[in-house]
Amino acid sequence: MLEVSHLTKSYPTPSGPVTVLQDLSFRLAPGASAAVMGPSGSGKSTLLYIVGALEAPTSGTVTFDGTDPFVLAPAALAAFRNRTVGFVFQDHCLLPQCTVLENVLVPALVGEADAGAPARAAALLDQVGLSHRLHHRPAELSGGEKQRAAIARALVRQPRLLLCDEPTGNLDAATAELVADLLIRLHREQQTMLLVVTHSETLAARLDTGWRISAGRLT
Ligand SMILES: Nc1ncnc2c1ncn2[C@@H]1O[C@H](COP(=O)(O)OP(=O)(O)O)[C@@H](O)[C@H]1O
Ligand SMILES: [Mg+2]
Repeated sequence: MLEVSHLTKSYPTPSGPVTVLQDLSFRLAPGASAAVMGPSGSGKSTLLYIVGALEAPTSGTVTFDGTDPFVLAPAALAAFRNRTVGFVFQDHCLLPQCTVLENVLVPALVGEADAGAPARAAALLDQVGLSHRLHHRPAELSGGEKQRAAIARALVRQPRLLLCDEPTGNLDAATAELVADLLIRLHREQQTMLLVVTHSETLAARLDTGWRISAGRLT
């Protein structure tokens, strides 16, 4: 269970603090999915970064099965993030000098040895339809293929939570639908919680819940 409680986030600026998120609370049950929608600049990415323990809240709490990652020491926080959360961004963020298989294995290089990672990476790349592209570099892939590789990378550590920030934002409509199909299918198969920031009403409608951010609050 992911629980976000009374979350507030302000950024300091030369003209004083700017509050982006205000007293925002929600829960995501194990295996559940939700969409977050809202105009550009409304704080969607900020919310995702805080939920993914990349950015600390100004006040309020985020807990995973009762654990608050922000009370952990830096090394423990990094380990927690690596094991608990998978990220998919609008831009695939693959490393250009690494092959598809190497990119998917990057999260498994962090922390203690993960002997099962190569087999999981190969299985995930098969599930996303890229088993014939294992040794290709990102520049040799289409936009949809790159995003499919990024999804495999996000899942290689078997995270409890998959966070996606406009995952289909750079894709044409047909490719976006294929990538959305894949995200939803893998979230069900792997039983991860799924939180997706999106401008796509079609994608949002396929998830269990939809929230909108407006004036720093969820509706
Ligand atoms: N590191 C930062 N410092 C100051 N302001 C920031 C920072 N990151 C984001 N913001 C501001 O917070 C607001 C929300 O940004 P963001 O979460 O990226 O919105 P969205 O993803 O909905 O477009 C914007 O006004 C943005 O300028
Ligand atoms: Mg954003």
